[in-house]
Amino acid sequence: MYGMVNEGIRSFIEKEHGAEMWLSICKSANVDTASFERMTSYDDSITYALVGAICQHTGLPADNVLKVFGTYWVEFAGSSNFGTFLRLAGNSFVSRIKGLDDMHDSILLSMPHLKPPSFEIEEIGEDTYLLDYYSERDGLAPMVIGLLYGLAAETDEKINIEQVTFKKEVTEPDQFRVTLLK
Ligand code: HEM
Repeated sequence: MYGMVNEGIRSFIEKEHGAEMWLSICKSANVDTASFERMTSYDDSITYALVGAICQHTGLPADNVLKVFGTYWVEFAGSSNFGTFLRLAGNSFVSRIKGLDDMHDSILLSMPHLKPPSFEIEEIGEDTYLLDYYSERDGLAPMVIGLLYGLAAETDEKINIEQVTFKKEVTEPDQFRVTLLK
């Protein structure tokens, strides 16, 4: 993943647990640097190793770490220059979900090695949606849950999310039922 993601993890850990903790996490993860170039693509194994080391140090399961980081990412990435793309998609949670693929695609111009996720949203009832999340990677569905809560917080909306399908093949989506709460 691009260094920006690993920098997001660093920013999150330093804010919550301090710089010493971040250095210990890098050491446990066998990562030989404590900072990353935002616009350079690094091997995914670094990101997964950092998450594993955070689990060791905090005692939290990976699902929780990914979820909390997902929520933080909306704030972190949203305050970068790319955040404008997200807000241009509209002022509601659903319009921003619909704009996610275009937003990640526009980042491709600056990050040509990006392997962006893809989302499809379908309304299945009043205030209820099915959201498909496609990725070349495994194990990041809990992060998506955190991302969605973070996205809803930005537009001041309340949502509930339940994962209804867990992908078994890389070409399949993870699927979530999203309910907008009044
Ligand atoms: C302005 C805000 C955002 C920016 C700048 C941004 C940018 C990025 C970048 C740089 C990556 C790394 C991909 C790679 O290196 O291959 C990434 C991954 C990802 N993004 Fe975003 N993103 C933003 C918001 C969101 C939101 C709101 C969601 C979902 C609700 C989302 C879903 C994901 C997921 C799930 C991944 C992991 C990659 C994968 O699934 O394979 N992003 N994003």
